Amino acid sequence: MIQKGALPTAPGPIGVFDSGYGGLTILRQIRRLMPQYDYLYLGDNARAPYGTRSFDVVYEFTRQAVRFLFGQGCHLVILACNTASAKALRSIQQNDLPELDPQRRVLGVIRPTVEAVGDISKSRHVGVMATPGTIRSTTYELEIAKLHPDIRVTGEACPMWVPLVENDEYDSPGADYFVRERIDNLLRRDPDIDSVILGCTHYPLLMGKIRRYMPQGICIIEQGSYVAESLQDYLTRHGEMARRITCGGSVRFLTTERAETFGQNATTFMGEPLSAERVSLR
Ligand code: DGL
Repeated sequence: MIQKGALPTAPGPIGVFDSGYGGLTILRQIRRLMPQYDYLYLGDNARAPYGTRSFDVVYEFTRQAVRFLFGQGCHLVILACNTASAKALRSIQQNDLPELDPQRRVLGVIRPTVEAVGDISKSRHVGVMATPGTIRSTTYELEIAKLHPDIRVTGEACPMWVPLVENDEYDSPGADYFVRERIDNLLRRDPDIDSVILGCTHYPLLMGKIRRYMPQGICIIEQGSYVAESLQDYLTRHGEMARRITCGGSVRFLTTERAETFGQNATTFMGEPLSAERVSLR
C-alpha cells in the first residue's frame, strides 16, 4: 500500500517508469517532442522482467515505484511499461491516488496506442505482440473493442523478448530464432493481419530483427510517438499540471540495479552519454 506522507509540493520533473530499459524508447520520443521539461527516469532493472509476474506482484512493484517518484517531486508519472499499464494503472488511479494525493496523475501507454490503431489498419485484423502478462490481461482486446469494435485482435505472448533486451542479447544471432518464431506464429494464427502493435516498450530495441522477419506490407506500430503526442495534448488541456512541471530540459536516470551497467546500456539506447544512480524502492 502506498503510504500517505509528506510529499514535496514544489514543481518537479515528469516521472517515467519501466521495469527496465524499455521505457527509454518512450522517454526518447517524449523528450523529442517536449525537450523543455525536466524528466526523472526510473528502471526497476533488479526486478525485471515484470511480464511473467502475477497481477499482485506487478501492482505492488509499480506502486512502490510511483510512490518513490512522487517522493522525488514528480506530480505526473508515465508508466512507460505495458505490463504495468495493463495490470496496475487502473488500481493505482482508483485506489491509491485518492488516498495519496488526488492532484497527482499517473498515465499509461496502452490507451494512446489503441486510439492510433483505428486509423492504421485497413484489413481490421490487428496483432498485438507483448509480454505474457499483458496478453493474459486481455487489456488490448478490451480497449480496442471499446474504440474500434470492428477490429479483430490476436495477441501473441513473446516471453523471451524482454530477457533478450535486459541481458544485452538483443543484437545477437541467437535472438533471431525467438523473434522469427513469434512473428510466424502470430501470422499463422491470423493471416489477414495488416498491422502489428509492439505492445511492450522493450520491443523497439529488437526492431532490426522484427523488420527482418515481418513480411512486407505489415505495418509495425511503435508506441513512442503516439504516447508522446497524447502526453503533449494532455498537458495542453491541463495547464494546472503543466505548471507543476519544471522546465530545465534535464533528464536524470535511476535504476534499482548496478548504475554503471545501466548507464552503459542506456547510453546506447538513448544515443547520448549519460550516467545513472542506484536507488532502492523498498
Ligand atoms: N517494458 C515492459 C512492457 O512494456 C515490460 C517488460 C517486462 O516484462 O518487464 O510491457
